[in-house]
Amino acid sequence: MQKVMFTETVLRDANQSLIATRLPFDKFAPAIADLEAAGYYSLECWGGATFDSCLRYLDEDPWERLRKIKAVCKKTKLQMLLRGQNLLGYKHYPDDVVRSFVQRSIENGIDVVRIFDALNDLRNLEVSVKETLKHKGVAQVAISYTTSPVHSLESYIKQIRQIENMGATALCIKDMAGVMSPKEAYDFVKAIKENSKLQLHLHTHCTTGLAYMTYLKAVEVGADVIDTAISCFSGGTSQPATETLVYAFKQLGYQVDVDTTRLKAINDFFKPVRDQFLKDGTLNPVVMSTDAAALIYQIPGGMLSNLVAQLKAQNALDKLDAVLTETPLVRKDMGYPPLVTPMSQMVGVQAANNVLSGERYKNVSKEIKAYLMGEYGQAPGKIDPQIQKKVLGDLKPVPGRYAETLPAGMEQGKKDAGPLARNVDDVLSYIVFPQIAEKYFKAREEKEQNRVKYTIEKAG
Ligand code: CO
Repeated sequence: MQKVMFTETVLRDANQSLIATRLPFDKFAPAIADLEAAGYYSLECWGGATFDSCLRYLDEDPWERLRKIKAVCKKTKLQMLLRGQNLLGYKHYPDDVVRSFVQRSIENGIDVVRIFDALNDLRNLEVSVKETLKHKGVAQVAISYTTSPVHSLESYIKQIRQIENMGATALCIKDMAGVMSPKEAYDFVKAIKENSKLQLHLHTHCTTGLAYMTYLKAVEVGADVIDTAISCFSGGTSQPATETLVYAFKQLGYQVDVDTTRLKAINDFFKPVRDQFLKDGTLNPVVMSTDAAALIYQIPGGMLSNLVAQLKAQNALDKLDAVLTETPLVRKDMGYPPLVTPMSQMVGVQAANNVLSGERYKNVSKEIKAYLMGEYGQAPGKIDPQIQKKVLGDLKPVPGRYAETLPAGMEQGKKDAGPLARNVDDVLSYIVFPQIAEKYFKAREEKEQNRVKYTIEKAG
């Protein structure tokens, strides 16, 4: 009997896609025991935007959040999403920082490190894959799925061979935009299964309405694990519903070791949490619906809600259609990068700049400049030489892997962070998000001093 396994995304991707990662630890803590006992292959609960959000918006130490989840989860694997050489930030970090970050992630409780590179430049994954394996973690390499004139089944299979040679323990097809169709999934998974023995995970979003069919066809040809979200946090820009797919696959005769009673308990817990986010406006009902336009624009869930928020803040929501039309043009100019973090933000912001300023590439972010300099890796296709020239002038892009040009970062980070950083985890937080980490550290000191003062006053 073929087995289908599940990765629950409510704590990470569903949280990120629907409510901009604003779910605080205290709001989900009571559900961890049921999540642990439900029989999932893994809980995706860390990495992605959660790290940034903890420090920036939630006044939480992300490392402490991980340890608190791990304290309850002894059996079910904890999974994180890591952007390869970008870690959880938006630029490339030196190799010693990447190694330390991966090591500390595993030591703090991560079992499965899902590692991807926005451009599928495999050189950017090597250090994190090696370090994950060194610390006995599961190194699951994710391919950012996209379609373009420069992407094909053959080009993907060639990459998968390279990923196997790298020593990865599992493989994931990451369809961050929810644009992978049932037929594409069927063909792709079949081809992978014929060429590779690695456990195969599939990750998609409901954005365009294809996801349930896509999972069904992928499982038919041997996909091992699918990413789903508990039903009240499913749909729209999030993942398909866990309960629905558990029900369907069981009925079709697959072996599914997920406890439906626990799923009900988890959903009963999260329903009022979701309703609260709906009520305070964090959850916009628009992102919960189906938008087939993404099949043309290839906009991932997170990117769509970011664009809406960005235009709303600039009082330019009426320009949304124009920006969505500009986005694929910017992508073509950039050599068809898959629209995944940080590329999705960079391309989205550039498309918005091009529309709002009235002239293409008049305002260019420093990130796009860095991309054109080769600092994110190699573009899948050819970058438009005229645009490269307009933005870079006489500057020449770096040859080779960018991280190799960076000086070691841990010692410097420790120095820069100063006494506010209490341990290596703090130093890593600081290196990845210097300003917001410092702000968080200062607030933490203050809070503790107030607590001491309060205790003394009370005692006095
Ligand atoms: Co996703």
